[in-house]
Amino acid sequence: MCGIVGYIGKADATSVLINGLRRLEYRGYDSAGLAILDGDRVLISKSPGKVANLKEQTRLAWSPELCHRVGTGIAHTRWATHGPPTEVNAHPHLDQSEDIALVHNGIIENYRPIRARLEGIGHHFYSETDTEVLAHLIGECDKGDLFQAVCDALHQVKGTFGIAVLSAREPGKIITARRGSPIVIGVGDGETIIASDASAIVAHTQRVVYLDDNDIAIVTADSVEIRDLNNVPVTREIAELGIDAAAAEKGGFGHFMLKEIHEQPESLGNAIRGRLDMDLGSSVLAGMGTSPRDLAELNRVVLVGCGTSLHAGLVGEYAFEDMADVHAEVEQAAEFRYRNPLLGSRDFVIAISQSGETADTLAAVREAKQKGAFVMSLCNVVGSTIARETGRGVYLHAGPEISVASTKAFTSQVAVLLMMALKLGRGRRLSLDEGNRFAKEIEAIPALVGRVILQSARIAELAKEYYQAQHAFFIGRGPMYPVALEGALKLKEISYIHAEGYHAAELKHGPIALLEKGTPIIALACDIPGKDKTLGNIEECRARGARILGIITEGDDEAAEYMDDYIAIPRSNALVSTIPAVVALQLFAYHVANLRGCEIDQPRNLAKSVTVE
Ligand code: AGP
Repeated sequence: MCGIVGYIGKADATSVLINGLRRLEYRGYDSAGLAILDGDRVLISKSPGKVANLKEQTRLAWSPELCHRVGTGIAHTRWATHGPPTEVNAHPHLDQSEDIALVHNGIIENYRPIRARLEGIGHHFYSETDTEVLAHLIGECDKGDLFQAVCDALHQVKGTFGIAVLSAREPGKIITARRGSPIVIGVGDGETIIASDASAIVAHTQRVVYLDDNDIAIVTADSVEIRDLNNVPVTREIAELGIDAAAAEKGGFGHFMLKEIHEQPESLGNAIRGRLDMDLGSSVLAGMGTSPRDLAELNRVVLVGCGTSLHAGLVGEYAFEDMADVHAEVEQAAEFRYRNPLLGSRDFVIAISQSGETADTLAAVREAKQKGAFVMSLCNVVGSTIARETGRGVYLHAGPEISVASTKAFTSQVAVLLMMALKLGRGRRLSLDEGNRFAKEIEAIPALVGRVILQSARIAELAKEYYQAQHAFFIGRGPMYPVALEGALKLKEISYIHAEGYHAAELKHGPIALLEKGTPIIALACDIPGKDKTLGNIEECRARGARILGIITEGDDEAAEYMDDYIAIPRSNALVSTIPAVVALQLFAYHVANLRGCEIDQPRNLAKSVTVE
């Protein structure tokens, strides 16, 4: 998820663009760049790292007189998806003629064959990005009408885009278009500003137009003309934002955590998109670097991580054993790195880390490599240390996760682990029909999560019954056991309520001594194998006065009878159900913490990335 800004008007475009990028930096911050139109010249400035680096670089490179006279430009702050976060991969990217500049948020899935075709007719590329390929494609389509060139190019690409394009051949206009990545256009007085979201616009105007998918607009300082990709005019109403800049950065949500919970249908879509092959009933995860022989000879999968990532690994353990018929185990990374693990060349070690910088997980990677295991990673941050040192693996494409409490990264980790298990399974004993069935269940995950998120207001009401608790217990069986652990972690780390996750059968082996009248038990009692036993455990808790909040399957009236309150999630198989179930617990934890007035995005004592032992 990146941030793009475009400006056309009377002000100093460089300054407007830099300030706009600052407002969007939470969307991506590994490199940044901008392009301005000085007469018939496209001037580019790009730098790795934060927007502040770009600001300093443009201050040194471009005179105040130049900046003062240039009123047209586009800019980008990057969240790397293709190619590491280097200056050469930073946007904007130019076409072959270097007259056309493009900034892009999204993923062009078919960029490789397009690049090969263009290289075949003499195009030369500098970066590893899909975006540069799109810039060259637009240039190749340009027969004297930039708008038509962008339309023709976009008809050839698959995937998602939110783009802004300018050309030295057609000054005084910017072309912008979207499919799957947001674009909002601010309509000012003698100026127009394009952005990925309103936080970069509110400083200029409250009047905005939101593009819909497959809209394309011709933007000038005084006009916004919107058409569809077939060049048919469309009408989009001008809306009033009614929010300030700070609220806009969180998309109008009270906290980044709530915004990121709500992003999960999109982030899960990005994690899954282009990675399922329904014909083969398998997944396409080229980054794993595994050959069919590797899969056939695979001895064991070892999943290592910390915190929430460790919990994702625990779900993965069930997935690998159930779907791939391979022995799997999970190791806390700090323990793994020091206990001299038994590993061999036929062991897959999968390091799971949102940040890709967690010290213990990085050390575990180095230990596993030292012992000759087949090591790969599952990271969100492209080019992070763990991603680079494993040299193979799968990126989450979840976009920046700002809130310290991990939400969308966890669900994308689980989704990717399910796809990894599917791939391994199909390389071993899983049949085409079984694989196809599972692939379809994975494909449905974003929609399942969307249905849980629609219950946020109801969950907020439920939270009023629980937010004053001192203690809480989360219980589950099978793959819902790690979901119980993750739900407890979410609640404790943002609300400071003492919460513990237990296997449902474990309570009676001691912890049940802690139950008093009204003690909350949050029970994962979805309609999956083991439910009846969990209902029995719930009875044991009710007999001691506990208050039961159940996570149950929609329509399961039997389970509802056991609960004081419940949240119903859509029906799916046990492994896939872990994702909508955890989203219900994320929302529960958020609303409890919100009622307690906690500092949700930066909880006390915590850091987003634990780079110390
Ligand atoms: C989870 O909400 C926490 N932020 C924490 O447990 C986190 O998952 C853990 O520190 C691992 O971080 P990583 O995924 O970046 O390696």
